[in-house]
Amino acid sequence: MKVSIIGGGGRVGSNAAFALQCAGIVSEIQILDANADMAEGEALDLLHGSSSIADQRIYAGDYNRAKDSDVFVITAGLRRKPDESRLDLINRNVALFSGILDSMKAAGLRKDALVFVVSNPVDILTQLAAAKLNLPWQQVLGLGTMLDTARFRSLIAQELKLAATQVKALILGEHGDSMFPVWSSATYAGLPLTKIAGCTPTFQSQIFERTKGSGAEVIRRKGGAGWAVGLTIAEVVHAIAHDKRQVLPVSTVQQGAYGLRGVAISVPTIVGRAGALAHVEVELWPKEQQALQASARALNETFAKIKA
Ligand code: 2OP
Repeated sequence: MKVSIIGGGGRVGSNAAFALQCAGIVSEIQILDANADMAEGEALDLLHGSSSIADQRIYAGDYNRAKDSDVFVITAGLRRKPDESRLDLINRNVALFSGILDSMKAAGLRKDALVFVVSNPVDILTQLAAAKLNLPWQQVLGLGTMLDTARFRSLIAQELKLAATQVKALILGEHGDSMFPVWSSATYAGLPLTKIAGCTPTFQSQIFERTKGSGAEVIRRKGGAGWAVGLTIAEVVHAIAHDKRQVLPVSTVQQGAYGLRGVAISVPTIVGRAGALAHVEVELWPKEQQALQASARALNETFAKIKA
């Protein structure tokens, strides 16, 4: 499966490329970037490691060479400042993102290609991509709250001294200020997480606030996310590559689940080779339902304001 990473010269895109290389699942990784030299440099640096890890084709190229891609991963974008909310990024990135979509359309993309948006504000740009590329909603996915969910699970595990891979706890809604935790279905090794020692209501609100602020915390400390976002991008790409049909909190244009339609937002979604196969309406507590509706409203209000 060929994956083209638009913005692959940047930290997020190159870390995603490295995660894909380490897993050795996809067969081809193309790096595209406005900074062609950086794209060449990242592709070369990755290629140099091929003999130690996996037999893949890794190279830098342009939109024309990318038009046969199975999956386009779009990570290009201007980074958020620590005190700036993701939605504040919106107009700076909408113009840049629209240019990328125009280039993809001009070069041509396969009618079965999948477009996987990472650039922020990811939900808004996912909705924009679905509208501008004229692809079925199933073929346009956004990283959504995948990274928030990964952070949430990892931070809970670290604090409560649990095995991170056995902590299952979702963050849903907007990848941004209105995201919310789903404690109602959170588990540790199959047991209700809220029953685990230490997982008190105070702990729950503290760890969620830490999760929500993690993007800004990483930006403040090291300039921006890279490793964890690269891993979560690879997690979605691998669910596609192996047609895993995993339920993942990716962002897609809603088709009626939870009464939502038209807005791109993260709800549990079955992901396989054809992209987003279906939404899974897991039962939510009333306050979680309300948080989801509020998040959708926030995104709709913002989408209405963009100059796309
Ligand atoms: C973050 O939360 C990049 O938006 C991403 O760090």
